[in-house]
Amino acid sequence: MPPLPVIETERLQLRKFVLDDVDALSRVISDPETMRYYPAPYDRPRVLEWIQRNLRRYAIDGHGLWAMVLKESGEMIGDCGLTKQRVDDVDEIEIGYHLRRDHWGKGLATEAAQACRDYGFAHRKVDRLISLIRPENWPSRRVAERIGMTLWKEVIWRDLSHCVYATQRADLPSK
Ligand SMILES: CC(C)(COP(=O)(O)OP(=O)(O)OC[C@H]1O[C@@H](n2cnc3c(N)ncnc32)[C@H](O)[C@@H]1OP(=O)(O)O)[C@@H](O)C(=O)NCCC(=O)NCCS
Repeated sequence: MPPLPVIETERLQLRKFVLDDVDALSRVISDPETMRYYPAPYDRPRVLEWIQRNLRRYAIDGHGLWAMVLKESGEMIGDCGLTKQRVDDVDEIEIGYHLRRDHWGKGLATEAAQACRDYGFAHRKVDRLISLIRPENWPSRRVAERIGMTLWKEVIWRDLSHCVYATQRADLPSK
């Protein structure tokens, strides 16, 4: 039995990764097109490390990247979640997302990222959530903008130029 969802949206469930997700996750992050803004696509040992790193994050931070499951089919089609990142010597919480290519353009990343933003502000004592995005990664920048983030600054992060998008707790529309 896969773990219970941490977050549920109209079309998606976000749940903790399990080691058995390695093949489904490879179909996402081993795809050179999907990983074109990363130094390289992930080979199988690194996909397994990715899952193990997130299992450690759940234990230490209480959050990490979660497996994104399409409710309609039960298929794992990507990841989205909250990870701790150090930017300009400050600990930040980042919203991250990666989606299998055949599901791009349906608003799924936006739907998942928005739910992670709401979860982050509801369950973490932070006033700001960020996303680190390579400047040329326009689809990702659009997702950040669509969930209400704005461009805060540009930094060199892990040796590469990145836009830092941010949303403040105070920016959230009151319900
Ligand atoms: C980024 C990613 C998750 C977006 O997933 P998605 O489900 O297709 O995103 P959505 O459908 O929610 O929205 C995509 C937006 O980008 C826009 N977009 C797509 N391709 C674009 C391009 N080449 N240039 C500009 N905008 C583009 C879409 O039009 C849409 O915006 P709109 O709704 O205002 O029209 C997906 O492209 C992906 O997995 N990319 C590879 C991994 C990655 O780079 N992750 C982010 C790391 S920072």
